[in-house]
Amino acid sequence: MDPLAFVTDAARDAGALLRERFRLPRQIEEKRTHDIVTDADRASEALIVARVRSTFPHAAILGEESGATAGSSGERFIIDPLDGTTNYAHQYPLFCVSIAYERDGVLEAGAVYAPLLDELFAARRGGGATRNGTRIAVSRVAHVTDALVCTGFQPGSYTRNADQFAALSLQAQAVRRDGTAALDLAYVAAGIFDAFWEFELKPWDIAAGWLLIEEAGGRVSGIDGSALVLDEGSILGTNGVLHDEMEAGLTMR
Ligand code: IPD
Ligand code: CA
Ligand code: CA
Repeated sequence: MDPLAFVTDAARDAGALLRERFRLPRQIEEKRTHDIVTDADRASEALIVARVRSTFPHAAILGEESGATAGSSGERFIIDPLDGTTNYAHQYPLFCVSIAYERDGVLEAGAVYAPLLDELFAARRGGGATRNGTRIAVSRVAHVTDALVCTGFQPGSYTRNADQFAALSLQAQAVRRDGTAALDLAYVAAGIFDAFWEFELKPWDIAAGWLLIEEAGGRVSGIDGSALVLDEGSILGTNGVLHDEMEAGLTMR
């Protein structure tokens, strides 16, 4: 099966499961202080992993809730079954499913699906990025002072981003903190946000969004402009035009 068709179908189906359970009572467990997981995260991941195993039985899997499983085909699926768990647990409607497909270490396809908005973002390497089937592109905002930017904070490490948050709040038109990094990156790809940054994210938070932004004509790097490494996770994604200005604002002392 075509990997892009697979990740978009799986993201939609897992998203439907999350949507159906959204108003229902749920079990919430704390993994660490302020870092929670719900039964819905687990059910969504179980659906996606079962689907991968039956369609791509030799692929490796990296899932937030089930961890890493080795494969033999050079393929890997990187799965965040519910990005925005805290939002979901409080019935704040911004959350998504993120699934990326990698072959021989290269991201080839990605999907981010926001179930309550019914927005499906998809990208194929070299094939552009879409929202619900329509081509998307990053914004053309040229200066941070005119930009709507977004950031996020790792649970329990709020001081890590405090200086950058304060600096950009003074510089940008506005700063948002939406609590769903994968969707925030998709929103940069769609030209809604002009930039997004966050420190120490995980591969499942950023893999699909990274490809979306690049395929929508934007730029993705580490916070300091260095090449992004999936496992390091500190990310700056922008429309490209204001990348250098964002980087300067984030790294100034
Ligand atoms: C979290 C969200 C949040 C970000 C955190 C992530 P989760 O993912 O993406 O926006 O600030 O760093 O851990 O736990 O909801 O999948
Ligand atoms: Ca996440
Ligand atoms: Ca998650």
